[in-house]
Amino acid sequence: MHSKHEIGILGATGMVGQRFIQLLENHPWFQIAWLAASDRSSGKRYEDAAKWRLDTPCPERIAKMTISPAEPDTAPKIVFAALDADIAREMEPRFAAAGCAVVSNSSAFRMHPNVPLVIPEVNASHLRLIENQTWRHDSGGYIVTNPNCSAIGLVMALKPIQERFGIEQIFVATMQAVSGAGYPGVASMDILGNVVPFIKNEEEKMQEETLKLLGTLQGDKIVPLPARMSAHCNRVAVEDGHTESVSIKLSRSATREQLLEAWAEFHPLAGQDLPTAPAQPVEWLAAEDRPQPRLDKNRGNGMAASVGRLRSCGLLDWKFTVLSHNTIRGAAGAAIVNAELLKSLGKLEPVALAAARA
Ligand SMILES: NC(=O)c1ccc[n+]([C@@H]2O[C@H](COP(=O)([O-])OP(=O)(O)OC[C@H]3O[C@@H](n4cnc5c(N)ncnc54)[C@H](OP(=O)(O)O)[C@@H]3O)[C@@H](O)[C@H]2O)c1
Repeated sequence: MHSKHEIGILGATGMVGQRFIQLLENHPWFQIAWLAASDRSSGKRYEDAAKWRLDTPCPERIAKMTISPAEPDTAPKIVFAALDADIAREMEPRFAAAGCAVVSNSSAFRMHPNVPLVIPEVNASHLRLIENQTWRHDSGGYIVTNPNCSAIGLVMALKPIQERFGIEQIFVATMQAVSGAGYPGVASMDILGNVVPFIKNEEEKMQEETLKLLGTLQGDKIVPLPARMSAHCNRVAVEDGHTESVSIKLSRSATREQLLEAWAEFHPLAGQDLPTAPAQPVEWLAAEDRPQPRLDKNRGNGMAASVGRLRSCGLLDWKFTVLSHNTIRGAAGAAIVNAELLKSLGKLEPVALAAARA
């Protein structure tokens, strides 16, 4: 029986930090040993610093833990980061330079040419980019990122189709939950009975990240998928779960049955036994009015992308609806499954061992 890896959480008091705690508390491979947040929280007990927002109680052991300063000297060598991009830009490199594997949720380094932006079911091979990071050679540390919460569900649904038929054009309009903006997020007076047709930088992130995720590793570089893409991003009065209406133009024609088959047979991690990976990453819902966030966001323990309403499109070839849980599959769960993949590849071992093997 192997002992668990000690891990830390940067931004532990926030929306995504709380999801990390919820998903990691009984994790078979990882043990929460360190929590950090801003100077406002540092030195306080977790229960006094965090406004717990989830519908399962905060684990008692965690509630009593003291929040550490967000400095690498006391942190474990594996750190899950849930920081705003501006803070992450300055802080994550310091942890990587100190030898930490930084498994990040933020957008700060997602598009950096040497930083892998990874969904294990989609582009596990891109993890090789960590070997291009100077921290990896100097201290063993590195940064790995997971995508924006609205790109992730879309890309999970597109990947099986891209593999079999190629994709040339993508149109997507999102209906994104309020929890995607962190806590307290959008003021209730702005969102109740309303739709806000603007989320700062979101459309740009969705477009860039989707094409990087579906791109190919050629030598040391990711060549993005050469598809045209247009995203419209909207904030709606839903608590959790991002819903997206998608239209695509394919490179080779496909029947409806072939597309359904591509989703049903998509099991790229089969046999790898990553504890957080869903058995069926893309779940097809046949009912004409699904997926819906209230009913379907927790499929695959919140880690699956649900698809429905596949039909022909009058402008492109096909259109459908996809839904994924934004703080589980779109954030903390995405980072955890990335860390599980890193462990299964031996990338969480101390660098001396890695160097000796190289
Ligand atoms: N919410 C989502 O659905 C979602 C999905 C995907 C990605 N993300 C990304 O994940 C990151 C976190 O999002 P969130 O929704 O969890 O935000 P949030 O609820 O606002 O939480 C932010 C966290 O960062 C901490 N923090 C703030 N300033 C800090 C500093 N100077 N040093 C150290 N820690 C600091 C906060 O601690 P205090 O409590 O002490 O202020 C808090 O723990 C963002 O980059 C976001 O874009 C979010």
